[in-house]
Amino acid sequence: MSETLRVELGDRAYDIHVGERLLATCGERIAALVPGGKVIIVSDSTVARFYLHRLTNALEDKQIRCRSVIVQPGEGTKSLDAFSSLMETILEQKPDRATTLIALGGGVIGDLTGFAASVLLRGIPFIQIPTTLLSQVDSSVGGKTGINSKFGKNLIGSFYQPLMVLADVTTLATLDKRELLAGYAEMVKYGFINDPEFFHWLDKNGPALLAGDLKLMSHAIVKSCAAKAAIVAADEKEQNIRALLNFGHTFAHALEAETGFSDTLLHGEAVAIGMVMAFKTSVRMGLCPQHDLDSVLSHYEKTGLPSSPLSVKKDWDIERLIEHFTRDKKVANGKLTFILARGIGKAFITQEVNPDLLRDILAQAVAA
Ligand SMILES: NC(=O)c1ccc[n+]([C@@H]2O[C@H](COP(=O)([O-])OP(=O)(O)OC[C@H]3O[C@@H](n4cnc5c(N)ncnc54)[C@H](O)[C@@H]3O)[C@@H](O)[C@H]2O)c1
Ligand SMILES: [Zn+2]
Repeated sequence: MSETLRVELGDRAYDIHVGERLLATCGERIAALVPGGKVIIVSDSTVARFYLHRLTNALEDKQIRCRSVIVQPGEGTKSLDAFSSLMETILEQKPDRATTLIALGGGVIGDLTGFAASVLLRGIPFIQIPTTLLSQVDSSVGGKTGINSKFGKNLIGSFYQPLMVLADVTTLATLDKRELLAGYAEMVKYGFINDPEFFHWLDKNGPALLAGDLKLMSHAIVKSCAAKAAIVAADEKEQNIRALLNFGHTFAHALEAETGFSDTLLHGEAVAIGMVMAFKTSVRMGLCPQHDLDSVLSHYEKTGLPSSPLSVKKDWDIERLIEHFTRDKKVANGKLTFILARGIGKAFITQEVNPDLLRDILAQAVAA
């Protein structure tokens, strides 16, 4: 059972397949796309332990020649050093322009492999097989690839679209529950941005979906990918509306910067907290009804999403948080761009936010 949706990007359009047991049955789909019949799979050691065999079996069944490169799990693998050694390892295997890279793993593997594919031999094809919820609903869609610099996250990268995305929901069974919930935050985000019905659907079905109902999970992933794909198709290079996808993210980045982008606070957890702050800011500006904020908070309670930075740590430094805000790379013409909401499903982009109000919202959120 799987569903397919198409990301409409002209001659770079591609399909996203979502469903159960796609990994075991992907041979035919991949064979149809890989002309030379040669692939190099990039994965991390955790994911490889669970799923590499399943993938290589499916490919070898269709006479596709597979090699694999296994890297360390974790954000550290998106460093320049790790990237350079990945490139050399891949080049050692003498790829040609028809060799296809397959990213098997979460967002770290997808970002790293996508970037490698975009520059190896000036661009070779790649396929995404995302295995975390975050990567299935967010990072594998939209073509942003990249690695980190000591000056910040994702500062080195490219826009590069895959040939195909295969999101096998069965792989989520082995994912840590905290990682699952962090990915779920990005899912709810699509409801908050422009789809109130999806939010209501999640409000009803979220707890069952998080408890492991794969039918509900598949449906919600398809809805999420469709939501992101529509925004990306309208604005691939983030000139305007793609910025809506950053709902909650300016606050989130400040919190993540303060916790050193570490396991203390996962990205999705920071986004969950950041979205509450964005709603609170909107309420305080008289833009969003209090009732909508109440619905958001009640949904967080039902699903276990974190709503306060105090659940992570108690002693936040407010001045440093503010500093992180202004260093955010989304600062345009010296003004901070913000995504606020006139209610659930009514997000919009603005540069008109009073800095004192932001300080107040942050101060309140971290006041123990
Ligand atoms: N390109 C984009 O548009 C975009 C968007 C959002 C996030 N990102 C990037 O995505 C990255 C975060 O992605 P992530 O949250 O998937 O993290 P991740 O890739 O680090 O995966 C999280 C952890 O889960 C493990 N794991 C993955 N799949 C598993 C499975 N099925 N079973 C058991 N364990 C599994 C991994 O080994 C890792 O330890 C960040 O680097 C972020 O910058 C990119
Ligand atoms: Zn995000």
